[in-house]
Amino acid sequence: MCSERGSVVTAGSPQTRNLRADGHWTWAVYAAVLVDRLKGCPVTKRALPAVRLRVPTHEDAFAWHEVFADPDVMEFLGGRPAELSVYMELTARQRRHDAELGHCLWTLLDEEDRVVGFTGAQPWPHEWGPAGETEIGWRLGRGYWGKGYVTAAALTALDRLRAAGVKDVVAMVDARNERSAAVARRLGMEPAETLTAPRSRRPVRCYRLAL
Ligand SMILES: CC(C)(COP(=O)(O)OP(=O)(O)OC[C@H]1O[C@@H](n2cnc3c(N)ncnc32)[C@H](O)[C@@H]1OP(=O)(O)O)[C@@H](O)C(=O)NCCC(=O)NCCS
Repeated sequence: MCSERGSVVTAGSPQTRNLRADGHWTWAVYAAVLVDRLKGCPVTKRALPAVRLRVPTHEDAFAWHEVFADPDVMEFLGGRPAELSVYMELTARQRRHDAELGHCLWTLLDEEDRVVGFTGAQPWPHEWGPAGETEIGWRLGRGYWGKGYVTAAALTALDRLRAAGVKDVVAMVDARNERSAAVARRLGMEPAETLTAPRSRRPVRCYRLAL
């Protein structure tokens, strides 16, 4: 399902792949088995969009700067659009993480190869909080919310992290950021400790997942 540099994810297929057409099975039995297999599955049963992840290029810094320059996107990330230099540094750092660790915050592309955001994992970049742990993170341009892009991308990212030997991940989510908390829950992450961000003094919930 996943290639190293680009992959397509379709929800439902992992659950349905093993159902074999068997002459003795009726459609009612099929339906019952399918419903049973989907019970408790944290990921939605709706089809996820096709997405692609790539290591951020130098040009992606410009794309991230443009697509994230929206007060809604930045509401829990400092409140206002960041300078281009922030994304220059961030994308360069991700290329280093990819080279050294085999994972990073990947640029997220939609079906038409437009840059719509990022999803992936990096070492937690602060001294406070889960220092030394691997943080999974996501950010989408405002026009791309509500379509399942980040859930699709994060499932691919988790597969890549397992392949890279990462054993567990954290997600640090502002307590008011309901949409981000919903992503963490959809991935099956468990809420753990709540910390106070040193600069904003806001509570931040740590979600954890063993891979
Ligand atoms: C956090 C953020 C990435 C969540 O985006 P999102 O679009 O809600 O998340 P997903 O891509 O997983 O999509 C889920 C949404 O798509 C809908 N959806 C459609 N098809 C879906 C599918 N197959 N599977 C899951 N959700 C689907 C869901 O219903 C949900 O929308 P809703 O909440 O309006 O019902 C986005 O709000 C964002 O970028 N925020 C600003 C940056 C930020 O706060 N980042 C996190 C810092 S911790």
